[in-house]
Amino acid sequence: MVKNKFLVAPSLLSSHFAKIEEEIQSVEKAGADWLHIDVMDGHFVDNLTLGPPVIESIKKVTKIPLDVHLMIEKPELTVDRYVKAGASVVTFHVEACAKPIETLQALKKMGVKPGITLRPQTPVNAIEKFLELADLVLIMTVNPGWGGQTFMEGQLQKISFVREWADKNRPHLFIEVDGGINPATAKKCRDAGANVLVAGNAIFRSQNYAQSILDIRGDS
Ligand code: DX5
Ligand code: ZN
Repeated sequence: MVKNKFLVAPSLLSSHFAKIEEEIQSVEKAGADWLHIDVMDGHFVDNLTLGPPVIESIKKVTKIPLDVHLMIEKPELTVDRYVKAGASVVTFHVEACAKPIETLQALKKMGVKPGITLRPQTPVNAIEKFLELADLVLIMTVNPGWGGQTFMEGQLQKISFVREWADKNRPHLFIEVDGGINPATAKKCRDAGANVLVAGNAIFRSQNYAQSILDIRGDS
């Protein structure tokens, strides 16, 4: 199977939670590459979502990789639980973590892709020294906490910065974007150098998941 150049990761946060299995199978059938799962603890962000037991159940009903985005305080204390639950990628916020180096190394040792991310207000140099140890960098293009917000254009320069660094130092680094992604904003992110596109509302609130995924990937 040819691997897509640009990966699309539907964000489950915008799905119909009471029909979660059906929603997951629909996006899988519609061509999703990864499934993006937002973990929020009511502290790092004020919203509260789901944790390892739900992820473990999700793992049983899908074959596509689980891309777990932790919006939690002190991720260094609990990352292993998300690995055990079945995550393929575990991304944590630099602002929330006292030991980013150790946490990235621990994730790698546990056999998953370690990811690091930052809030829109946080300058990109806050993650620069950790890029060497990460397999994925997530550039947030809205304030973490909720789906359905407007894309923040100002974040595009962070994507270009990380792309330039990756091309020189680590060409296989995944550069992911999350927040306000639709076909038009996805194009701007792809052009700036992102290769993993997370989208919640633009997929789950659309009439045709497959078409929305193609449009976001830029294949249509
Ligand atoms: C926001 C989450 C996102 C969110 C994206 O904190 O990290 O993954 O679900 O939703 P949309 O694509 O609707 O902005
Ligand atoms: Zn997310």
